[in-house]
Amino acid sequence: MTATSTTPTSPDDVLTRHGLVLRTLAPLERGPDGADPARAGHPAHVRHTAAVEKGFYEEVPDGAAADQDLGVSADDAKILRGVYLAQDDPAEREPVGTFVDWTSRLTTSPGRELPVWMISNVTVSPGHRRRGILRAMMTASLGEAAAAGVPVAALTASESTIYGRFGFGAACTGRTVRVDVRGGLVLAADAAGHREEDPGTVLREDPRAMPGVVEELHGRVRRTTPGSVHRPSGHVVRWEDRSAAKNDGKGSGLFAAVHRDGDGTVQGVALYRFDGWEKEPTTESVEAFLAATDAAARQLWRFLAHLDLIDRLHLTRCPDDGRLEQLLADRRRVSTKAVWDDLYLRILDVPACLGGRDYAPEVAGAVVLRVADAAGHAAGTWRLEVARGVGRVEPLGDDARADLELDVAHLSGVWLGGMRVGALVGAGVVAERAPGAAARLDALLHPAAPVHLLTRF
Ligand SMILES: CC(C)(COP(=O)(O)OP(=O)(O)OC[C@H]1O[C@@H](n2cnc3c(N)ncnc32)[C@H](O)[C@@H]1OP(=O)(O)O)[C@@H](O)C(=O)NCCC(=O)NCCS
Repeated sequence: MTATSTTPTSPDDVLTRHGLVLRTLAPLERGPDGADPARAGHPAHVRHTAAVEKGFYEEVPDGAAADQDLGVSADDAKILRGVYLAQDDPAEREPVGTFVDWTSRLTTSPGRELPVWMISNVTVSPGHRRRGILRAMMTASLGEAAAAGVPVAALTASESTIYGRFGFGAACTGRTVRVDVRGGLVLAADAAGHREEDPGTVLREDPRAMPGVVEELHGRVRRTTPGSVHRPSGHVVRWEDRSAAKNDGKGSGLFAAVHRDGDGTVQGVALYRFDGWEKEPTTESVEAFLAATDAAARQLWRFLAHLDLIDRLHLTRCPDDGRLEQLLADRRRVSTKAVWDDLYLRILDVPACLGGRDYAPEVAGAVVLRVADAAGHAAGTWRLEVARGVGRVEPLGDDARADLELDVAHLSGVWLGGMRVGALVGAGVVAERAPGAAARLDALLHPAAPVHLLTRF
């Protein structure tokens, strides 16, 4: 077995040695009138945001866009952490390391969720790499999460080799696809002559004129999608095309295809934007695709397939579950341009996590797991017993015989069922001590719906 987490050795001391200090900025709040916090009153937060944007080579927001950014941060109750040169005033100088965390909700099984500690905006200035800045920020953050009783942490990573050492495992993949719609796209159901029971209607609407609609639909869809989290507030701004950073907040050419069923209830929305006449083939980028019912998904695809003058659709966050290919009469219309490790999870509380998801009622069994966790949060020998859809975890002594030995990063990756234990045994990173234990655990963890992260954060 290869342990991927390593022991933190006084991260604060390491920072001190380098003349650095880790600071946490005071949380932001909106004014009584609900207005965005004004940037002039929060210079340390503004400089922190600037450091993040520069770290990802993005434009630094200014004016109303900076205020809007602070408002979004306040709405999510984000905690901004920064590593500064010890002598620097955060109001005057940007940090050399940035880290943001906040508490949200993660769907573990359709209709079931747990609190989750979200981590984002991790950057370290190129002049200060490999001085323990990331480790210090991560150790402090995860320590607070565990102390607050949050059972699991989550992030999305720009590089897949960074976070395993801190106990994070990739829990699902995402993909970018192109769909060739030249000459129209035929759905498999239509080719087979199946009639839609309740086709409802799909209309093109202005995302700016439908406040709360996408957010409400996202809430419904994400509650049935394991691996999805309560939307970060920045997404609501983008869904409603209200970003103050673009066209002074007056809209940026985003369109909404809205599906309403026979009762008039919104069951699906696709948000799309034209890539411009210069681009060949002519392309629409689908920035969000949300469907609460299969019928809504089919109707949205019929709409998108018949956009005049368009030859290609580009989807940046498409579930990697093969359902899109099944939906079409000609599966070769879909080409996958990239597949990536999407949601990373980090279990902090083993009984809460394994007991905090559903299991298929028809599976039953038990497995003993020896979990290594250098940070200590999840370390131990745990017996998972599943019966009648419920998982119960009991701690065992260190001398108990384990069926599987694995690092917390691997347990975190397979927990929701989007990754397989058997593959990790085959890779030589999880040790199977009892023959068949990996297949047994895979069968127990099989998810009721594909694991997918609807909204990046
Ligand atoms: C990744 C990044 C944050 C690392 O910061 P850092 O302060 O240099 O990291 P630390 O000095 O604390 O190193 C901690 C450990 O991570 C390892 N590490 C750091 N960056 C790494 C990388 N890019 N790939 C693999 N390992 C890395 C270090 O070797 C060290 O390992 P060890 O403690 O097991 O010996 C920094 O390179 C960065 O800002 N990258 C660009 C932005 C980014 O990718 N952000 C992540 C988006 S969520």
